[in-house]
Amino acid sequence: MAADQPPWWTRAVVYQVYPRSFMDSDGDGIGDLGGVLLRLDHLADLGVDVVWLSPVYPSPQADNGYDISDYQDIDPLFGSLEQLDELITAMHARGMRLVMDLVVNHTSDQHPWFAEARSSKDSPKRDWYWWRPPRAGMAAGVPGAEPTNWQSFFSGSVWELDEASGEYYLHLFDRRQPDLNWENPHVRQAVYAMMRWWLDRGVDGFRMDVINMISKDVGEDGHLHDGPPLPGSALGDGSASYLCGPRIHEFLQEMHLEVFAGRPDAVLTVGEMPGVTVEQARLFTDPGRGEVDMVFQFEHVGLDHGTSKWDIHPLRLRDLKASFGRWQAGLAETGWNSLYWDNHDQPRAVSRFGDDSPAYRRDSATCLATLLHLHRGTPYVYQGEEIGMANFPFAALEEFRDVESLNHHVQAVSAGDDPAHVLDALRTMSRDNARTPVQWDTTPNAGFTTGTPWIGVNPDCGEWNVAAQRDDETSVLAHHRRLIALRRDDDVVALGDFTMLLPDHDDVYAFTRRLGGEALLVVCNLSRTAYRLAELLPEAPAAELVLGNLPDDDPAELRPWEARVLRLP
Ligand code: NOJ
Repeated sequence: MAADQPPWWTRAVVYQVYPRSFMDSDGDGIGDLGGVLLRLDHLADLGVDVVWLSPVYPSPQADNGYDISDYQDIDPLFGSLEQLDELITAMHARGMRLVMDLVVNHTSDQHPWFAEARSSKDSPKRDWYWWRPPRAGMAAGVPGAEPTNWQSFFSGSVWELDEASGEYYLHLFDRRQPDLNWENPHVRQAVYAMMRWWLDRGVDGFRMDVINMISKDVGEDGHLHDGPPLPGSALGDGSASYLCGPRIHEFLQEMHLEVFAGRPDAVLTVGEMPGVTVEQARLFTDPGRGEVDMVFQFEHVGLDHGTSKWDIHPLRLRDLKASFGRWQAGLAETGWNSLYWDNHDQPRAVSRFGDDSPAYRRDSATCLATLLHLHRGTPYVYQGEEIGMANFPFAALEEFRDVESLNHHVQAVSAGDDPAHVLDALRTMSRDNARTPVQWDTTPNAGFTTGTPWIGVNPDCGEWNVAAQRDDETSVLAHHRRLIALRRDDDVVALGDFTMLLPDHDDVYAFTRRLGGEALLVVCNLSRTAYRLAELLPEAPAAELVLGNLPDDDPAELRPWEARVLRLP
């Protein structure tokens, strides 16, 4: 990042709306654009600069809209293009920007492009997707005849047999989400044209879904390579063939030139990139290379995973520090970090990394928020995080909706896992934890819908809701407001450099941010144990308190889940 003229998004905070669960305006039990329009004051009051809207395009909803059947329209489930235009205008009038979700690693199998590709081996669009014959010497449909051994993110093989042609098509996610073939220049041009159309309509950028998967490592003869076998499975890990593949930088640079070059700098691009390393991220976000502004990396949200996300290990704070510390250092001179705990794919942070017991829920939610927002990078707040929404107390399989959870359950139970154990893992890690409706007030269904909500409303909504927190200065919501304002107003928060302190402490996370002669010290206690602050950081007790999450009564003690932002003399 050029130090002379920092981009606008160094001071910005982004808020993610997952429309299906945000607010329902028409009583069908599913959130919609009308609902977002109704709740814009909440976002303005919070002070966020940007809203990232998860997909609202026409879709069969196999993966809640991440399976798109038309890139240039709005699903009637969510509203209309006119309402989207209204939303752009209303947001711009409030000084907010709207970033759309761009899902172009794959389409829905109901997209006309796929229908055409599927219709015949000779279709001009056949090559827009990845079609392959069965493995040499094997008959189509026989287990093991799939062209590669790769396991899908949503369980099972990534290959689906098309009976009519006897060929398989590739889907890294669900079988209803076929992967587009970015090797084909017509695919790329169609995507760029669609992106320009949205920018011309007034949207302010894109969050790019699994964008580091668009380049596959394909041999000159079209061969795709098997991956190393996964333990206890007939399938393998194909990620070396599709994460940050050989042409990924070329594709993103081409996209940048075709779509963004020559437009004002007001747009934001953030690439979702599972498995990306710091070194790769530095290349992706180096402004001189013209790729993306920032990436979502996954290291910190993988620290509690074992062999898979369903194999859960408690987080060790020193691992988190080592990881965040490396990302802060790695993108200090070149590039930029995005910062997040929560999104629509992650369980709720207060339940996962905090302490959602009644005694500590508020304090741990505000502590985690302080820790995140005081790092160098652009913070992302996921709907409900600003009021400390927690995981849902799932009791039975019937309460889950997510394709990833349901596929995993089928696969694990049929492989012989104990169903009770599988359910436990779903309860903790399912993406549905993030997808229960936003809790607005104490009216039925927490004010989300007058109909029957598509997924259960968390029974804690009577106590944990926006209305209860709006005018309470001690609330999680008010604390988020202060954090967002601090980034906007304080150069050290926006631009200061980062130094990790106490890297080996098991409970306390501390760091400094420095800019010119100014310095902030941030101290967060991620435990139920109280500490004497002077013993940890002798300079802390005398420093001026800029922002804390607990009443300011004893400067010497760092209480359970206390967070303090201090200005060093
Ligand atoms: C990442 C998205 O965040 C997730 O929700 C989706 O299931 C996959 N990409 C596939 O689009």
